Amino acid sequence: MNNNEEKIIIFDTTLRDGEQCPGATLNIDEKLAIAKQLARLGVDVIEAGFAFASPGDFQAVSKIAEIVGTENGPIICSLARAIKGDIEAAASALKPAAKGRIHTFISTSDIHLEYQLRKSRSEVLAIAEEMVAYAKTFMADIEFSPMDAVRSDPEFLYQVLERAIAAGATTVNIPDTVGYTTPSEFGALIKGIKENVPNINSAIISVHGHNDLGLAVANFLEAVKNGARQLECTINGIGERAGNASLEELVMALHVRRQYFNPFLGRPAESEESLTNIDTRQIYKTSRLVSNLTGMLVQANKAIVGANAFAHESGIHQDGVLKNKLTYEIMDAQLIGLTDNQIVLGKHSGRNAFRTRLKELGFELSESELNKAFVRFKEVADKKKEISDWDLEAIVNDEIQQAPDLFRLELVQVSCGDRARPTATVTLRTPEGEELTDAAIGTGPVDAVYKAINRVVNVPNQLIEFSVQSVTEGIDALGEVTIRLRYESQVFAGHAANTDIIVASAQAYVNALNRLYPYLQQSQKQEQVTAQQI
Ligand code: KIV
Ligand code: ZN
Repeated sequence: MNNNEEKIIIFDTTLRDGEQCPGATLNIDEKLAIAKQLARLGVDVIEAGFAFASPGDFQAVSKIAEIVGTENGPIICSLARAIKGDIEAAASALKPAAKGRIHTFISTSDIHLEYQLRKSRSEVLAIAEEMVAYAKTFMADIEFSPMDAVRSDPEFLYQVLERAIAAGATTVNIPDTVGYTTPSEFGALIKGIKENVPNINSAIISVHGHNDLGLAVANFLEAVKNGARQLECTINGIGERAGNASLEELVMALHVRRQYFNPFLGRPAESEESLTNIDTRQIYKTSRLVSNLTGMLVQANKAIVGANAFAHESGIHQDGVLKNKLTYEIMDAQLIGLTDNQIVLGKHSGRNAFRTRLKELGFELSESELNKAFVRFKEVADKKKEISDWDLEAIVNDEIQQAPDLFRLELVQVSCGDRARPTATVTLRTPEGEELTDAAIGTGPVDAVYKAINRVVNVPNQLIEFSVQSVTEGIDALGEVTIRLRYESQVFAGHAANTDIIVASAQAYVNALNRLYPYLQQSQKQEQVTAQQI
C-alpha cells in the first residue's frame, strides 16, 4: 500500500478517551447525539467506547454502531484490552455496524511491564500476536496499540509491531500515553518505525497522544511529516488528565498550512485539496455540543473554538483587520461555522418551521422529543423576540441532556436585591414521586437556591465549578449555566439554558444531582454489604 497519497484519517476518541476525564460522563442519548454530530463533521472513525467496561458502555457502542455506523457513515470502533473477554465484547457490540473496528492494546514500556502487567517482554510479544489474531477472527479491521510506546525500548516496539501486523493488524497506533514526548523525538520515533518494521507498509501508522506538556498537537504534526496517516484526537482536546490532541487544532493546522504539509503526503505543494475529510464548517457546532453535554468548558483563549479565538481587542489589530482581514487573521471565522448563527424563528413560528429548521441543522428528533423541545422553544420565544440557530441548539441540547429524570424541579422562586436577604423557595418532585417544598437564605440568589435544593434532596456534594455564559449577544440572551459537583473522588457535571439565569442555575444543579444520585445509592448499597460481611 502506498500511504503517501492517502488523506489523513481522523479518528475521534471523544466518546472513549475524552469521556475518561473527570465529570465528563455521558449517558447513551448524549453519546448518540455526539456520535451523530461527529458523523456530520466527517470524522473517518468514531471510537464509541470500551464495550467490556460496563453494560452502559456496551449498549452505547452497540447503539452508535446501529444508528451512526451505516454504509456511508464512519467506521465504528470499540477499545478492548488484549484479553479474550474484552475482544469478544467489542466484537459483539460492533455487530450492527456496517464498518466495525476492534482496537486492542497492551503496554510495552518496561515500567508498565514491571509494575502494572508483571509480565516479561516475551510474554507481551506473544499476547499481542495471539490477541490480534483472535480479534481478526471477528472482523477484518483491527487496530493495535502498544501502550506507553513513547517510553518503550524502540527495538522491542519494532518487534511487537511486526508481530501484530503479521497477525492481522491493519492500523498500528503509537500512543504517547503520558504526554512525555517532544515533536522532534516523536517524529524520529515514527521515522524509526517506518524504517525498522519490515511489514509496516501493510498497515496505517496512527498516533495517539496526551497533552500533559501542551505538545500533543505539535507532536502529531511532526508525526504526519514522518509517515503517520491517522490522528487520534478529541473535540476540544478533552480527555484523561490534560486531555488528548485536539481535533479542531489538528484539522485547522492541516487546512490552513496545507501547502506546507502537501509535500509530506506526496502532493504538489500548491494543491488546494483538503488533507482530511472533515467539513470544517461543523467544527464550532460540534465543539459547543461536546462542551454542553460533558460540562467541560472551553477556555476563552483556546485555539480555533475559544470565545476570543477570532476577537481582536487591540486598536492596532482592529485597524488592520478593518483595512484588510489578512493583516491579522490567518483563517476566516466562517471556515469553522462561527458566523452561521442566523436569526431564524420568532414567537409566531409554528411547529413546522421549528421542525424544518432543526432538520436543516442536522437534528433528527423523535415525535416526543420534538414536542418537548417545541414547548421549550415557545417558552423561550415568549421572552426573547428573535430565536437564532444557536438558541435552537441550546434548547435541543438541553432536552437531550435531561435524563435521568430522578429529581425534577417544579418551582423556583427567589427574592433578592441590595436591601434584601437573598431567599429562595423551591419545589422538587423526588424519584419516589413526592412533591417537597423548602426555602433557604443564602449569600446570593444562586446560593439560596442551592441551599434550598439541598434541604430537599439531602444529597452530599461539593460545588467545585459554576459558570454562566450567554448563548448569543443581547440583553435578552439565553444564559447557559454549567456546574460541576464533587462527591468522594467523582465529579458530576450539569448544564442548563434559560433566559432566566437563576432558573438555569437551579436546573443545572438538579441535572448534576441526577447524575450523582445513582452513584450515591450504589456506594451506599456497597457500604451496607461490606458492613454485613464484617
Ligand atoms: O493513552 C493511551 O495509551 C490510550 C491507549 C488505550 C491507546 O488511550
Ligand atoms: Zn489515551
